[in-house]
Amino acid sequence: MTLPNGPKTPGILEIFRRFKLIFRPLEYLEDYAQKYGDIFKIGGEKSPPFVYIGNPEGIKQILTADPELFEVGRGSRIIRFLLGDNSLILKDGDTHQRQRKLIMPPFHGELLRNYSQLIWDITDKVTDQWEMGKPFPIRCTTQEITLRVILQVVFGIEQKERSQQLRQLITALLDSFDTPLSSSLIFFPFLQKDWGARSPWGRFLRLKQQIKQLIHAEIRERRAKMENEESFSSDYTDIFSLLLLAKDEDGQGMTDEELHDNLMSLLLAGHETTASALVWALYWVTHLTEVRTKLLDELDRLGENSHPLDIAKLPYLSAVCDETLRIYPVLPAAFLRMPKSSIEIMGYQFPEGSALALSIYLLHQREDLYPQPKQFKPERFIERQYSPYEYLPFGGSNRRCIGSALALLEMKLVLANIISRFELKLLNNRPVKPIRRGLTFAPPAKMQMVANTSHHN
Ligand code: HEM
Repeated sequence: MTLPNGPKTPGILEIFRRFKLIFRPLEYLEDYAQKYGDIFKIGGEKSPPFVYIGNPEGIKQILTADPELFEVGRGSRIIRFLLGDNSLILKDGDTHQRQRKLIMPPFHGELLRNYSQLIWDITDKVTDQWEMGKPFPIRCTTQEITLRVILQVVFGIEQKERSQQLRQLITALLDSFDTPLSSSLIFFPFLQKDWGARSPWGRFLRLKQQIKQLIHAEIRERRAKMENEESFSSDYTDIFSLLLLAKDEDGQGMTDEELHDNLMSLLLAGHETTASALVWALYWVTHLTEVRTKLLDELDRLGENSHPLDIAKLPYLSAVCDETLRIYPVLPAAFLRMPKSSIEIMGYQFPEGSALALSIYLLHQREDLYPQPKQFKPERFIERQYSPYEYLPFGGSNRRCIGSALALLEMKLVLANIISRFELKLLNNRPVKPIRRGLTFAPPAKMQMVANTSHHN
C-alpha cells in the first residue's frame, strides 16, 4: 500500500508553491485536484506528508474512526500565536472533551433561541447607522454585528464600555491579516519580528497585549463578584460565568490563563467566520436578483411582525445560507487530523504524523454531488438531503464546530432583517472570488455596497 499521488516539489520551488497557497488558494487546490484526483499529497519523501482529501468516502472513514486515533491540537499550532497555549482548539483527549462539554450548552437549545431577539435588535442598531445612497464596506457592518453578538453571548457585556474597547481592538487585531499579503505573516514565521509599533507584527503584538489586559480585568472583576455574591450562579448565564464556576473532579477551576485563552478563542472563532459568511450571503442575494425576489416572497408569506424564530425556520432562507457556505466555505479545510500511528484510509497507508486535511472546498465543488458546482443554486438543498460526509461547512466528529447553530441563526436573521428593510447594491456588480484572510477564505475586505430604504411591500 502506498501514499496517494502528488506534486514533487524540489526545495527551490517550495517557496513558489507556498506563494500560490497564499495568493491563489482556490487555483492551488483545483489545479492539484485536477491533476492528481480527490486525494493527493504534498511532500512525504523525507517527513510525513500533508494530504488533501476531498472524497466523501475518505472523509467518512476519518470522521467515523475513533477520534483517539488522531491528534488534532498539534496540527493547529500555527494559530497558537493568536489563541494562546491553553485554548481548547489546541488540546486533545480528556482536556479537550472536558472543555467542550463546558462550553457547548449555551450554544444550543433553549439558551440559543433566547439570542434570536438580541441578534435582530443588534442588526437594527448597526444598520440604522448606514447613510442611504453612500458606498460603504459591507464587512464593517457584518463584523460589528457578529462581534456584538458574541460579546453578549460569551461575556454578557454588550453595553459596557469595556465591550466597546474590546470591539475596536479585536477588529483592529483581525485586520492585521485581512489581505493575502498580510496573511503571509502566519505562513512565514521569519516575518514575525517586532520592529516597533509601526511594523505589522509589532502592531499585532501590542493590540494582543491590550486585549489581554482587558480580558484579565474582566476576569478579576467577575471573580471578586463571584466571591461576594451568593446568587452569582443564577444571575449570570453567559459562558464566561459558567467557565468561572466550573470545577473538575479534583474541585479545581480554570486558571486565569486558561480562561483568557478560551475566551479569546471563542471571541475570535465566534465572529470572524460568521462575518465573512454574512458578506457572502449578502453578496449572493444582491448579485442574483432572482434569489432576492424568492427570499422576499418567502418573507412576505410569513407576514409582518413575525417572530425571529419563525423567520429562522424558513426553508428557502435556510437553503440560501447552506448554499452560501457550500460554494465558498469560510474554512477551506477542517482542523488537521494527525494519526498517532500508521493508518489505512481508502487503501492508502498514512504514516504517523501525516497531516490529513479534510478539504471542505474540494468536497463542496464535486460535480457528482453538486451539479454545476460554480453556480449558486439554493434549490439543491431543498431537493436533496446531503450526508455529513458530503456537506461539511462546520467539520465533524468530536471537533465539529461548537458555534454552528449560533452561526446559522445569525446568518438567517441578519440576512432576513437587512433584505426586508433595505435595497442593497454592489458598487461594482462583478463576480467576486474569495481571497485569503488569515487561515480562512473570505470576500475582499474592501467590497463596497450601497444601501437605500426598501420600497418593497
Ligand atoms: C459560519 C461560521 C462558522 C464556520 C464556517 C465555522 C467552521 C468551523 C470548522 C470547519 C471547524 C473545525 C471542525 C473540525 O475540524 O471538524 C470549527 C471549529 C470550531 N468553531 Fe466554528 N465556525 C463558524 C462559527 C463559529 C462560531 C459562531 C463559534 C462560536 C463559539 C465557533 C467556535 C468554534 C470552536 C470553539 C471550534 C473548535 C472546536 C473543537 O476544537 O472542538 N465557530 N468551526
